[in-house]
This record gives sequence, structure tokens and C-alpha cells, in this order.
Amino acid sequence: MANIEFEFTKDGPLLVKADGKVEYALCRCGHSSKKPFCNGAHINAGFKADASKLELKKS
Ligand code: FES
Repeated sequence: MANIEFEFTKDGPLLVKADGKVEYALCRCGHSSKKPFCNGAHINAGFKADASKLELKKS
């Protein structure tokens, strides 16, 4: 099983990573026309959010 990481980027999408590689960039601003994926619309929307990270490590 891969190490899974959820990275909430500052003012941007939620990145889902497996073993350090970005698998998905998910929209969390609500403005993407490609939901659930980020299409960069958060930039023009002026989306603001803090960054944080959650890691699920295999045991
Ligand atoms: S977070 Fe990028 S378009 Fe919504």
C-alpha cells in the first residue's frame, strides 16, 4: 500500500499524493468547471484558504 498524503495548498486545490506523486488535484473553491478536479479557476476567483497536510502512512 502506498503512503497517501492530502495536501491542502494555500489558496488552491487539495492535492492527493501517493508516494509523493500527485495523483489528483481536487477543487475546493467551488469554481471549477471540471469538478471534482481543479482547473485553475481558483486564481481568478480569488479563493483564499490556509495550507495544511494530512499523511496516511502504511504500517
Ligand atoms: S481549487 Fe482550483 S479551481 Fe477550485
